[in-house]
Amino acid sequence: MNFLKTLVLLVALALVGAAAFVAAGVYPIGADVPHWPLTERALALLRSRAIETQARGIAVPNLDDPKLLAEGAEHYAAMCTGCHLAPGMTDSELRAGLYPQPPNFSAPGSRIDPAQAFWVIKHGVKLTAMPAWGKTHGDEAIWGLVAFLRRLPQMTPEQYQQATSAAGAHEHHHHDHDDHDEAAGGEPHDADADHGH
Ligand code: HEC
Repeated sequence: MNFLKTLVLLVALALVGAAAFVAAGVYPIGADVPHWPLTERALALLRSRAIETQARGIAVPNLDDPKLLAEGAEHYAAMCTGCHLAPGMTDSELRAGLYPQPPNFSAPGSRIDPAQAFWVIKHGVKLTAMPAWGKTHGDEAIWGLVAFLRRLPQMTPEQYQQATSAAGAHEHHHHDHDDHDEAAGGEPHDADADHGH
């Protein structure tokens, strides 16, 4: 019984201490002060266990589909490079100040797990800058991003420029010739997909 009383007392003291710490407002909440190594490891574990578990059972579609890749290229260039960079970019002003740091997906050897990447892109990650893109984008668009992420580490800056400007360039071309329907067919997309050679 004595042991139990001591335990309860210690727990109560710890809670009071924690509450006092929070109330005092001295926690270094700024993004320019890193966590303790132990906190960092605990957060990494929390994050990887949650993502692994919640991404389980997600069925991965064919990520070599040229249409998916073309859509992913366009979306990546428009929405992701400020934080995750692109071939030829070494840093951005936005990324430099972020904590945790967003991974550089164009770094050689960078690898993603498709189901987990899909989950993170769709749902985002709390208390990081990673947004939940599922609020504004459907699953198909998110798979396009996953498909493109798998190609990024092998791309040269030139190949990246081609892949991302191809979609936009073709689109502008189409707007100039609105009534030529055949120009909007599958052919430009197939061309996009072959830029990787
Ligand atoms: C405002 C900055 C920001 C933007 C914009 C952003 N991300 Fe992120 N993203 C992050 C951060 C920060 C993390 C790391 C989160 C963490 O440490 O848990 C991250 C993590 C990820 C991960 C998980 C990586 C891993 O190794 O597990 C994926 C996948 C991802 N982002 C994809 C994207 C895609 C695709 C886009 C564009 C649609 C995007 N992000 C846009 C900040 C951003």
